[in-house]
Amino acid sequence: MRFPSIHLSVCLLTSASLAVPACNASRWKPAAPASARVGPALPIGKCINYAGQLEVERDESWMRPVVPGDFREMQQLGFQSIRVPLNLSRFASHKPPYRIAPPYIARIRQVVSLATKADLNVILDNHLYPELFAHPDAEQDRFVAIWRQMGSLFSEAPPSVYFELLNEAHDPLTNARLAALFKPALAAIRDKNATRPVIVGGDWYNALTALDTLDMLDDANVVPTFHYYEPMPFTHQGASWTVPPYPKGATYGSLKDLAQLNRTVADARAYMERTGRVPFIGEYGAVESIPSSERAAYFADVTNAFASIGIQSCVWGYVNNFTLRDGKGWNRAIIDSISTVTKPTKN
Ligand code: GLC
Repeated sequence: MRFPSIHLSVCLLTSASLAVPACNASRWKPAAPASARVGPALPIGKCINYAGQLEVERDESWMRPVVPGDFREMQQLGFQSIRVPLNLSRFASHKPPYRIAPPYIARIRQVVSLATKADLNVILDNHLYPELFAHPDAEQDRFVAIWRQMGSLFSEAPPSVYFELLNEAHDPLTNARLAALFKPALAAIRDKNATRPVIVGGDWYNALTALDTLDMLDDANVVPTFHYYEPMPFTHQGASWTVPPYPKGATYGSLKDLAQLNRTVADARAYMERTGRVPFIGEYGAVESIPSSERAAYFADVTNAFASIGIQSCVWGYVNNFTLRDGKGWNRAIIDSISTVTKPTKN
């Protein structure tokens, strides 16, 4: 457990309901580990979102080219897995058979190959799909066709490559609507990938609570995921894409913050007990304008707390926002603060 000095310097001798931690209080409350009874506990380990690389939105010019040496660097920094946000929809035709453009597939293949050679597990994440949120019924066939192609194109990929059906579903894609969407997509993947892990998250932007009512599609190799960005006023301070934006200057580490983390860990553990499945956190992080020491304290708490129950986490992001590296190199204070507690072995 880490006790960053920034927190010790503001602790109080008694705690009560004051908004700062008590001296000697645990930063987070360790919970007993829970183990898988249904399906795999994916060997996610220390994991990073390879963001700002393949999930181009409108303008490709901001996209950083794939740099082959990056993957060995990630491995040397202790990462075991990467989550690769994709924009499959942007590169798929809008007419049947909804072909995904070969140059984009080639780029995904290049990343899978480089990452695999660097001994990294790879999560291929269907990250951006605005048309689906606007017109779920009209897009259903296209969504399924996209996954049929991905299943076929990557059927020979190593077992350490996983598919994530959709990032951060939200209204109008409720859990009930998602089940109808995911079922045929999973069947399309399973034609050529009998046991490859397929990752699903629930509605309301992959909230943990949404997993309670998400249909796991009667398949042991369907793995649940959720995102953790609490407290939002800290992690998203000054971020332009929240409406309205959270003001800058929020700090992390109050008793309320820790209670929220402990409560979410307890909820995640209850989910594991109830279902026998082991989820992982596909995204957590804090915006880069926050001082590194504060970001590192937050990352240490979140990763430690969830790892204590066997949940591993993928940090957001990489080079675009919530950055972990930039022109000056990697942010080592943050990378070193990430903990997995128990080191899972790679499959
Ligand atoms: C989501 C968004 C990404 C954003 C992150 C943090 O994954 O797709 O663009 O940076 O959440 O808000």
